[in-house]
Amino acid sequence: MARLPILRYPDSRLYKKASPVKEIDAHIRMLVANMAETMYAAPGIGLAATQVDIHKQVIVIDVSETRDQLLVLINPEITEREGIQNIDEGCLSVPDVYEPVERAQRIAVSALDAQGKAFSLGAEDLLAVCIQHEMDHLEGKVFVDYLSRLKRTRIRAKMLKQQKKSA
Ligand code: NI
Repeated sequence: MARLPILRYPDSRLYKKASPVKEIDAHIRMLVANMAETMYAAPGIGLAATQVDIHKQVIVIDVSETRDQLLVLINPEITEREGIQNIDEGCLSVPDVYEPVERAQRIAVSALDAQGKAFSLGAEDLLAVCIQHEMDHLEGKVFVDYLSRLKRTRIRAKMLKQQKKSA
């Protein structure tokens, strides 16, 4: 397994739309393993393939405190949404920025797991937020895009400054 480099906002590759996975083969299983390793190492609670510059509909999530409940979502679709919540979100592609975003409180999602088996899942609270956030990445959307223009401008400047420093 290997850790993968994570694209940083405002990298234009974060705005590419991911395509559905046609076949869950050894390549996809390796991608899932590498994404999980990258997420745990970061550390983060979710990572979309878009963030590692692979434009396929693959997401890994683990919101457990024990960090041993890996959830893999391939070709996910939200089938139900209910309620509203506004919690602070962060993103491995936008380090050190936390801002509230309006999301559904509860969702139902259907997807394939890493073995290619179809499943559906009900999620609420943090897990529901995380799934919606990661699915946005697959659509080429970053949570910063929901914020005001002023906040986005500030975040963009902060990120570019950070990147210049570490370059
Ligand atoms: Ni993110």
